[in-house]
Amino acid sequence: MASTIPLDTLKASTVHSPKMKSVKALAESAILSSVPSIYSFTHNPHDEPIIPDDAEDSVPIIDVSLLVSGTPEERSQVVHQLNKACSDWGCFMVINHGVPESLTKAMIESFQEFFNLPEEVKQEFHGNHVMDPIRCGTGFNPSMDKVNLWRDYLKCFTYPEFHSPNKPAGFSEIALEFSKKIREIVTVLLKAISKSLGLEESYIDKATNIESGLQILAANYYPACPEPDRAIGIPSHTDHGLLTLLADNGISGLQILHKEKWINVNLLPNALFVHIADHLEILSNGKCKSIEHRALVNDKATRMSLALPHGPSLDTVIRPAPELVDNESHRPAYVEMTYREFLELQQTGRLRSKFG
Ligand code: OGA
Ligand code: NI
Repeated sequence: MASTIPLDTLKASTVHSPKMKSVKALAESAILSSVPSIYSFTHNPHDEPIIPDDAEDSVPIIDVSLLVSGTPEERSQVVHQLNKACSDWGCFMVINHGVPESLTKAMIESFQEFFNLPEEVKQEFHGNHVMDPIRCGTGFNPSMDKVNLWRDYLKCFTYPEFHSPNKPAGFSEIALEFSKKIREIVTVLLKAISKSLGLEESYIDKATNIESGLQILAANYYPACPEPDRAIGIPSHTDHGLLTLLADNGISGLQILHKEKWINVNLLPNALFVHIADHLEILSNGKCKSIEHRALVNDKATRMSLALPHGPSLDTVIRPAPELVDNESHRPAYVEMTYREFLELQQTGRLRSKFG
C-alpha cells in the first residue's frame, strides 16, 4: 500500500469569506498609502528572486504546433523536451498553440468588466463551497496568521458542464470559446506527456477519464498595492489538477521555485505558461514535478491572470501508473483517492493545501 501524499509540498488553506469586501474595492476606496494589517504578509528576505541570465536555466519553451503537424522526428524531439521540462522544471511555456491573441485579450477584458461590476452584483456569484461551479470573492488564509491575500478571483467550472456568470454581456460566449481552445491544447499536451513517460499515448486520458475531466476557468485580479513588499497575491503553493494553463495581462508577478530559488516568470508575447500539478505528479509516481509557485503584487499597475486548471474526472480514483511502479526502487509514493476526495480533503486543511 502506498505511503502518503507529500503533505509538506502543499501549503496553506484558503477559506472563503462571503462578507469580505473585494481587494479591488479596498484599493479604490481611499487614497491608500499603506497595507492594512490584516493583509500584511512578511516576506522572507532570503526569498529574493533571481532573474536567470543563462539560457540553459530559463523556463523550457514547447512549440505545440510541432506536436500537431510536425514530422515524426520533430514530434519525438518535442516529446523529449517535454520529458525534461516535466521532470527538471515542473513547468514550461507553450508557443504556437492556436489560441488567437485577440481571444485571450477579449477574455481578459471581459473579466475586467466582471470585476468592475458593482460589489452587490458580484455578490450574486459568491459560492461557498469548493464544488460550487461559479465562485467569486477574495481569499484569506487562516493557517497563515489570518493574512488576507491581495487578490480577488472569479472561478467557473467550464467542463464537463459549462458554467459562467450571465454578466457582463458577452462574457459567456467568450469564456466558452476560450475554454474550448485551451482544452484542445491540454488534450495534445497530455498525449505527448504520456508518451514522454514511456506510456501509451492515451494512458493519461484513460486513467483520468479525461472525457469528463474537470476544467476550471479562473481569473485572478491583483490591484496595484501601495506596499507590495508587505502583501502577497497568492503565497507559495502547487496546483491540484494535472495541468494548469495561465495567461496574464503582461504585468509580471508570477514566480516559480526552481532549484530552491524563486524565479520571475515573464511570458513571451502570446505564450501560455503551463504548470505541472499534483495529479500529474501522482500519476507519474513523482517523475513529473508539481511546481511550487506564488504571485507577488506591485505598486504600479493592476495585474490580471487567467488560470485554467485541468484535472481528472472528479470520481475517478487516481493512483501512480502501475508501469512506473515496482516494489524496489519505485514504490508507489502516493495514496490513491478520487480528485473530488483530494479537493475536499484540501479544504478541511487536513491535506495542507491551498486555493481551491
Ligand atoms: C493560481 C496561481 C498565479 C498567477 O491561480 O493558482 O497560482 O500568476 N496564479 O496569478
Ligand atoms: Ni497556482
